[in-house]
Amino acid sequence: MKHLLKLADLSGREIIDILNLADQLKYEQKNGMEHRYLRGKTLGMIFQKASTRTRVSFETGMYQLGGHALFLSGSELQMGRGEPVQDTARTLSRYLDGIMIRTFSQGAVEELAAYSSIPVINGLTDYCHPCQVLADLMTIREHKGSLHGLKLCFIGDGHNMANSLIVGGIKTGMAVSVATPAGYDPDASLLTWAAESGRFLHTHSPLEAAADADVVFTDVWASMDQDGEVEKRREIFAGFQVNDQLLAAAKGECMVQHCLPAHRGEEITAAVFEAHAEEIFDEAENRLHAQKAVLVKLMAPEFA
Ligand code: CP
Ligand code: NVA
Repeated sequence: MKHLLKLADLSGREIIDILNLADQLKYEQKNGMEHRYLRGKTLGMIFQKASTRTRVSFETGMYQLGGHALFLSGSELQMGRGEPVQDTARTLSRYLDGIMIRTFSQGAVEELAAYSSIPVINGLTDYCHPCQVLADLMTIREHKGSLHGLKLCFIGDGHNMANSLIVGGIKTGMAVSVATPAGYDPDASLLTWAAESGRFLHTHSPLEAAADADVVFTDVWASMDQDGEVEKRREIFAGFQVNDQLLAAAKGECMVQHCLPAHRGEEITAAVFEAHAEEIFDEAENRLHAQKAVLVKLMAPEFA
C-alpha cells in the first residue's frame, strides 16, 4: 500500500489489516502505552473544504505517534492561486513524509499522488471518503463482533459516503443496500461492480433498503460541494430520513451511524440521533484510531 486514495484500491484483507492495527493502536492509547512510531515525521494536511473531525483527528494522531502535522489551507497555498498540483506535489515531497488532502475532485488527489514521492491520503473528495469508512467499519466491528454476513444500509445521497460504504461493505463481506432518490445514484461503475458480488441492492425505496439491516447509515442531503442546492435537495430528499418508522423495518438491535456533521430534522431525526449518540460518537472517535493505523502503514510500515 503506497497511498490511500480510495478503498477500491485495497483488498478486503488489506482493509481488515488496517482495522486490526487500528484496534491495537486504540488499545495502546487507552492503556497509556507510548507508540511513537512516527517519531520525527511530518504530515502536511491540505484542506480545500471545511473540517472538524478530519483535521483534529489527523493532527492529534500525528502528535500521539510522535510526529508533527502541518495545517495547509488551500486558499493560502500557492495552489489556491493556480500553482499546478504537480509542482505542489513535487515541492511538498522534498519537505514532508506524507500528505493528507481534502478537496473537490478525485482527479486532483490522484494527480497529487502521481507526482508525489511520499504517501498521499484522501481526506474526502466529492467521489469518496475512505478514512471515514475505515472508522465506520472499525466501529461496526467493535459493536457487532465481526463484519462478515451483516447487512449495511445507506439512506440518502449517492455521493462520497455512499460510494465508499458500498466498496468497504462489499469488500469486508457484508451485504449492502442503498436507497437514493432517482437521479441521485451512487457512481455508475461502482453500482456495476457491487452488483457482481450478489450481495448488493440499489433501490429508490428507503423501507426496502432498511429491511433487516444490522446498521443504517445516512449523510447530509447537501454535501460541501453542493452548497447552492440546499433548498432544492430538501424537497427531493424529504422521504429519505432515518427515523423511527424506517428503523422499524431494520433488525431490533440495528446500529445507526452518521459521519457527521448531522442536520437533525433532515436526514436524521433528533430522537434517532440521540438514541444512537454513543455509537455515532464512537464512530467519530474511531477516525483517530483508524487514521493512525493508515499513517503507520504508509509512513512507518516496519511497525505495521
Ligand atoms: N466526517 C468528517 O469527515 O467530518 P469533518 O468534515 O468534520 O472532517
Ligand atoms: N457528504 C459530506 C460528508 C462530510 C463529512 C460532504 O461531502 O460534505
